[in-house]
Amino acid sequence: MCTFVPAYIQKNIIMPKIKTIGVLTSGGDAPGMNAAIRAVTRAAIANGLRVMGIYRGYEGLINDEIKEFRTEDVSGIIGRGGTILKTARSKDFTTVEGREKAYKVMMDRGIDALIVIGGNGSLSGARIFAQEYDIPCIGLPGTIDNDLSGTDLTIGYDTTLNTIMECVDKIRDTANSHQRIFFVEVMGRDAGFLAQNSAIATGAEAAIIPEDSTAADQLEQFIGRGIRKSKSSSIVIVSESPKCGAMYYAERVRKEYPEFDVRVSILGHLQRGGSPSAGDRILASRLGLGAVQALLDGQRNVMIGIRNDEIVYVPFSAAVKSDKPLKRDVLDALSVLSL
Ligand code: F6P
Repeated sequence: MCTFVPAYIQKNIIMPKIKTIGVLTSGGDAPGMNAAIRAVTRAAIANGLRVMGIYRGYEGLINDEIKEFRTEDVSGIIGRGGTILKTARSKDFTTVEGREKAYKVMMDRGIDALIVIGGNGSLSGARIFAQEYDIPCIGLPGTIDNDLSGTDLTIGYDTTLNTIMECVDKIRDTANSHQRIFFVEVMGRDAGFLAQNSAIATGAEAAIIPEDSTAADQLEQFIGRGIRKSKSSSIVIVSESPKCGAMYYAERVRKEYPEFDVRVSILGHLQRGGSPSAGDRILASRLGLGAVQALLDGQRNVMIGIRNDEIVYVPFSAAVKSDKPLKRDVLDALSVLSL
């Protein structure tokens, strides 16, 4: 006779019970990471689990920089930028030996599961680790770049967008006063989300972004549209790029169109700092709760995302694919909005 066994009962039978989870932040810090650490810690404690805070990302895991977190360890941090756990881009964790050390530390400390808050590189690391060792790993999308697939937003993106907007609004004042073209360089690594949407939010005249690099020359397109005489200034948002950043485009304009008064502003790391927006605090809190719930549900090796306001589990392989599409219609709208 065949008896139907609900999935949750099956999980309880086959899943070894998780008692202690480790949480770390890795890669570039992002506003909202603290809210995520707080949510993970409190959700875990509420469910009877122990929480180990792992300092300096995978580097701290390898070197056993670990402290047990109580609920008071995460008090008063929801509004703070950066990460109280510190972060690092660990070279050692990219090696087999490094990951073996990390596993041994986890076993010595009795850590049964790992929650990793970070971007593409950090979740790729978690993916490899989870393939090599029988450790449930859960990822939270923590990066200002918004370049993880399967989630509408990543922790930190909204705050950074607002920071860029405030900066560009100020730059606009001086650009107007001097009737200048400003090339403003923003972060994003290989993704143009920050550039595209900060351009929309600031009423920029153009955005030069990596996703468009195979299309026609973006500078020519901008100049070709003509700069309306009655406009006192132009702002062009440029995605960071080792070769074709804001400096490159400004130099070109200086050479090819000497009649324009051109300046460059590279916003740099100020984009990553500051108190997280309400949106990021809520997103990080929901994702942190979702991560612990996922472990309790027997999930492993997935990133927690939010799509259409619902928590979703995204396999690491899908999350780190780096092909999250920009909305083409939004990009095209820039030329209309800046007429
Ligand atoms: O991934 C986040 C990010 O801020 C990118 O936008 C940027 O390219 C990179 O990190 C900068 O890294 P670092 O702080 O190591 O210079």
